[in-house]
Amino acid sequence: MELITRMMDGSISYDPEGRLEPVSSGPGVKQEDKIERLKEVPVFEACSHRQLRSVARVARVFDVAADTVLARAGEPGDEFFLIIDGTARAEVSAEKRVLLHPGEFFGEMSILDGGPRSATVVADTPLRLLVISRQHFSMLLKDVPGLTQTLLATLSKRVRQAEERAERLGSASTGL
Ligand code: CMP
Repeated sequence: MELITRMMDGSISYDPEGRLEPVSSGPGVKQEDKIERLKEVPVFEACSHRQLRSVARVARVFDVAADTVLARAGEPGDEFFLIIDGTARAEVSAEKRVLLHPGEFFGEMSILDGGPRSATVVADTPLRLLVISRQHFSMLLKDVPGLTQTLLATLSKRVRQAEERAERLGSASTGL
């Protein structure tokens, strides 16, 4: 089970030194504070206050330390992650690393097709993340204008890059 899932369902405690900190997900945290944070994330720009309120109800905000593994290639995945602050690193293959920056997301592939994680994703720096579980993802697609289109555009870009990479590897191995 992925680290964040275990953090979210409470089956592991947080790091005693406070390296893995849930932020604004506790019952005492005001929804309005979370909504203010959501407003800073570009993908939620077009959301009305009502839409942001429904996102805030289901989104959890986590701080994780650099080097935390958030998704592991080949394992099942049940969360969608959006980067609020910091940089994550998708280790797509032995030679391919992609840096993901604030406003970018990862974890959408397993949520969409139910398959295993396609890459390992690690916190390259300390990260602040918005985490949405599988059960709330379709609500997010319905409530956030333009999110489906952004997801499709990102997936197309990732497929294109994967094909280019496969082509380069193919030419390198045949020497053409
Ligand atoms: P998922 O397969 O659920 O978990 C690993 C994530 O890494 C994947 O979703 C994407 O969000 C991300 N990912 C996979 N391939 C790439 C890529 N080529 N560029 C950027 N991110 C990627």
